[in-house]
Amino acid sequence: MEYYPKVKQFVIDTFAKAHNPGDVKHFERTVYWLEQLKPDADEALCIAAFAHDTERASRKTATHPKAGISPNGFQDKEFLIYHQNKGAEIVADFLREHDAPQSLIDRVQMLISKHEVGGNEDQNLIKDADSVSYFENQIEHFLSSKVAEVGKDKVGSKFQWMFDRITSEKARTLARPMFEEAKRKLEE
Ligand SMILES: [Fe+2]
Repeated sequence: MEYYPKVKQFVIDTFAKAHNPGDVKHFERTVYWLEQLKPDADEALCIAAFAHDTERASRKTATHPKAGISPNGFQDKEFLIYHQNKGAEIVADFLREHDAPQSLIDRVQMLISKHEVGGNEDQNLIKDADSVSYFENQIEHFLSSKVAEVGKDKVGSKFQWMFDRITSEKARTLARPMFEEAKRKLEE
């Protein structure tokens, strides 16, 4: 794992300088849950798990404008495609600048570019680990600030979508109690 620590530091530093603070705990726990789902996860999977949300650091506002105004909220298609591709590009550029092998660059880019919607088995793994980590770490933030920003309905549908998109039975079992708790708190 030569490049994983470098990318990790890059992501931490990038978010430290960004307008939009990154939740390093969410990134760390995405890697943790990835390793629960696939104990022999390779370097590209670990890099993608930690760096999947790097696009957020390039934004001026915490919520992407599209997610705020689109009737589809956080599931706005254009927003998701932008979020996935921009993040994949930033991390691929970093790896290229550090002379990483092309095969690693391509694989990381492929993984991040579908981390929201999934696709192949490995892209689904990143998506599932992200969902579990989301329910574990992001709910308080969504309840305390996103509800006021975009409304309860959009936050509720984000919770539902983050749960429904899970592919693996194991990840679903891990996320279910946290998802139920999140919905209960939203209704309080
Ligand atoms: Fe995420």
